[in-house]
Amino acid sequence: MNTVEIKNLTKYFGKITALDNLSLNIEKGKITGLIGADGAGKTTLLRTIIGLLIPDKGEISTLGFNPVTQKEELTPLIGYMPQKFGLYEDLTVIENLTLYADLKNVPHEFEKMLEFTKLAPFQDRLAGALSGGMKQKLGLACTLLGNPEFLLLDEPSVGVDPISRKDLMQMVREMINPETTVLWSTAYLDEAHSFDTAVVIDRGRVIYEGKPHDLAPTPQEFENKVIDLMGGYKQENSKIAENYTLLKDIQDCTVEADNLEKKYGNFYAVKNNSFCIQKGEIFGLLGPNGAGKSTSFKMMCGLAKPTNGTARIMGIDITKDPEKARSNLGYMAQKFSLYGSLTVRENLEFFASAYGIKFKNRASRVKEIIEVFGLKDYADQKSEELPLGLKQRLSMACALIHNPPVLFLDEPTSGVDVITRRDFWNHITSLARKGVTILVTTHFMDEAEYCDRISLFYHGETIALGTPEELKRKALELNPAPKPAPTSGEGELPTMEETFITLIKESEKE
Ligand SMILES: Nc1ncnc2c1ncn2[C@@H]1O[C@H](COP(=O)(O)OP(=O)(O)OP(=O)(O)O)[C@@H](O)[C@H]1O
Ligand SMILES: [Mg+2]
Repeated sequence: MNTVEIKNLTKYFGKITALDNLSLNIEKGKITGLIGADGAGKTTLLRTIIGLLIPDKGEISTLGFNPVTQKEELTPLIGYMPQKFGLYEDLTVIENLTLYADLKNVPHEFEKMLEFTKLAPFQDRLAGALSGGMKQKLGLACTLLGNPEFLLLDEPSVGVDPISRKDLMQMVREMINPETTVLWSTAYLDEAHSFDTAVVIDRGRVIYEGKPHDLAPTPQEFENKVIDLMGGYKQENSKIAENYTLLKDIQDCTVEADNLEKKYGNFYAVKNNSFCIQKGEIFGLLGPNGAGKSTSFKMMCGLAKPTNGTARIMGIDITKDPEKARSNLGYMAQKFSLYGSLTVRENLEFFASAYGIKFKNRASRVKEIIEVFGLKDYADQKSEELPLGLKQRLSMACALIHNPPVLFLDEPTSGVDVITRRDFWNHITSLARKGVTILVTTHFMDEAEYCDRISLFYHGETIALGTPEELKRKALELNPAPKPAPTSGEGELPTMEETFITLIKESEKE
């Protein structure tokens, strides 16, 4: 039995062919993973399946209905979580759940949801004041209400920490019944590897459809195979780093947090955080959702006022001279913070002038960065129309446009496809070798391995600080059970993900 049957589906957006003569069946009662490069057509496909978009050619049947002409019959059977889920930011967590329960006409039974999402302690907090990952979890909880027959999840795990990601997966598996069909789009290939079926899309076409295990037995091999299918990744010298000129030489700590603290009411978002980052160092701020990472970033670039303490960028105190401190850094915010109605090129031009690049150099700098980031085909498109991964690329390009000696990257790779992630990290490590100081957060544990040092952050405090290897040794001491770790390639040491989980769980005990 198939929940979805698609034949020769084509969808155009102006000159762009988003879906190109695509045929696909989605089996009932199975979890199907949808994978593909940024802009490959995943979101378009999901929306067409439920009748939010009308195809130009081809046929679709969803749960036996025509999604265009029988939308009213179809909609009550569907749970759709779009990439940007419509939470009411000025309602609390519990009010959002109540509202969605009422819309779906189901009872107000939220205990299990709140427990799974770990949102129980925050049920009276406004949704707008939740961290990025907490919002994702609440969105998923609202989608799951009412036991839909067919769940379509558009990258639900973007920005969700490794522990919660396991919880989300478990939440979906436990909350659905054996008949429920799930179509789950994801950039996490380990996630896709654990599903029943994987569908890889490239430029609007299906290029693989089958069991993930048939493509490759381990998650790592699966990732490599998918990269091959998507055209492969060839590491090249980072042009951005090559053309980088550092403004000046600096003393010891290029980035320094000095007893930073942020309180909202009685709640400590960040509690007494101090560190010193050296020139050319890649410093990773890792931690569960809501740990206080973004709040730290915001204080360190002068966007949020610390309750106590301060930060120094290239020796300049951010609370005393925010403007001068900021001129030394490029900040890529977690949430898309570009001008949606401006085109890609206009955004870059805007940031070039805002960051003080001289008029005569602007055009060439913008041209260069468009090329390096592969944005040429999108240069004249409005940035709000870009797929998520491309928005991230553009945000990173904007943060780098003025060659800052310090870079703050708040989840630069969330929602970015696997090839672009490798490319981002190639730029990041090359820039660090040039002497750029980098403070970065990520929920991809493989990326944490690229960091020189990691601060593991939880409940607003540093619970561990050291090189990736030092943290792994610490986790091994706490959890010495001999355990082969075939994917880490480091013999007895645990993987970064295991390390993260062990250290967080240990801190919870205390
Ligand atoms: N304006 C606010 N009012 C109340 N609480 C807030 C506000 N802003 C943030 N918080 C809370 O501070 C805590 C830290 O949030 P922050 O965004 O820094 O987390 P994070 O570590 O970046 O998480 P994520 O990995 O999900 O991005 C969370 O509990 C969040 O709900
Ligand atoms: Mg954050």
